[in-house]
Amino acid sequence: MPTDRVRETAGPRHGVLDRGSTAVAHPNIALIKYWGKRDERLVIPRVDSLSMTLDVFPTTTTVRLAPGARGDVVTFDGAPAADEPGRRVIAFLDLVRELAGRGEPAVVDTRNAVPTGAGLASSASGFAALAVAATAAYGLALDDTALSRLARRGSASASRSIFGGFAVCHAGRGVGAVADLSSYAEPVPVSDFDPALVIALVDAGPKAVSSRAAMRHTVETSPLYPAWATSGKGDLADMRAALERGDLDAVGEIAERNALGMHATMLAARPAVRYLSPATVAVLDGVLRLRREGTPAYATMDAGPNVKVLCHPADAARVGEAVLAAAPGCSVVTARRGPGARLRTGAGL
Ligand code: DP6
Repeated sequence: MPTDRVRETAGPRHGVLDRGSTAVAHPNIALIKYWGKRDERLVIPRVDSLSMTLDVFPTTTTVRLAPGARGDVVTFDGAPAADEPGRRVIAFLDLVRELAGRGEPAVVDTRNAVPTGAGLASSASGFAALAVAATAAYGLALDDTALSRLARRGSASASRSIFGGFAVCHAGRGVGAVADLSSYAEPVPVSDFDPALVIALVDAGPKAVSSRAAMRHTVETSPLYPAWATSGKGDLADMRAALERGDLDAVGEIAERNALGMHATMLAARPAVRYLSPATVAVLDGVLRLRREGTPAYATMDAGPNVKVLCHPADAARVGEAVLAAAPGCSVVTARRGPGARLRTGAGL
């Protein structure tokens, strides 16, 4: 184990690297999207959102305190973090240190089962895992609401990955501390609704424009943004009712219209932000064809060209085949409802 080697060679004088705290979190896909912030520093969303946490593509993050070190060390998949992602992790550690009233630097090791920054919600699983691992490492005991609020400071979508299954993130109210306190996610209890989400990986490369920059630009320049934000309130109410009924067609229709509306706001930004590629549109055509032929299937897309198709689990194989026929270059992964972020305990960390 590398940690044991470090323990043997570093010795107490240089600050012992302990085994640290390891957490695992899964990405979530929003069925009602968050796009746009009303406070950039506190990461307060402009709109409520609702998501399903997945059972694929986990992020595993270990945080070890390094009292003798000169600063934080951040690695992604074993390699030093690039500037911007590294800076975001360190800013997040600063928040945790402030909450804990402690100052030790940390070594953060993050492993993603999916390419980082490809619009597959790696920042959601990443900051949810970091919130759980870092608070444990610095000795903070937070409840799920406080963890969700904290994860939001890293990435608003991460607030939802604290929870398994379906979760709603409240945009909150007011400004400053009031906004911070009132913006967090909580679970949406949905008894037996467990759809499949067929993920069409059209392009796993990093996106050209970060969602952070793109949503700022959309809010500032798109005349369609206010209309979409307003219609999202109705979408959320309809979505809650559809989930309660376990009505896949209604859930899918609402998710699809909400996602297409979000992309419409981006296309109307000046200049336009366009994440959807020809292969994305080919998959959307494939989904429409499936529906016309009688298979319930509905699409949603985030800040990237990949498409996630909601369907009955029994139809997932057929949906996957249709996706591959529509866009032969892509690959397909089927996800179901997954667990919330949690600390990994015991041997074999
Ligand atoms: C399109 O949560 O990644 O996936 O808060 O700036 O880190 P920041 O953005 P992020 O944006 C996610 C946007 C989305 C929709 C969603 O997940 O709700």
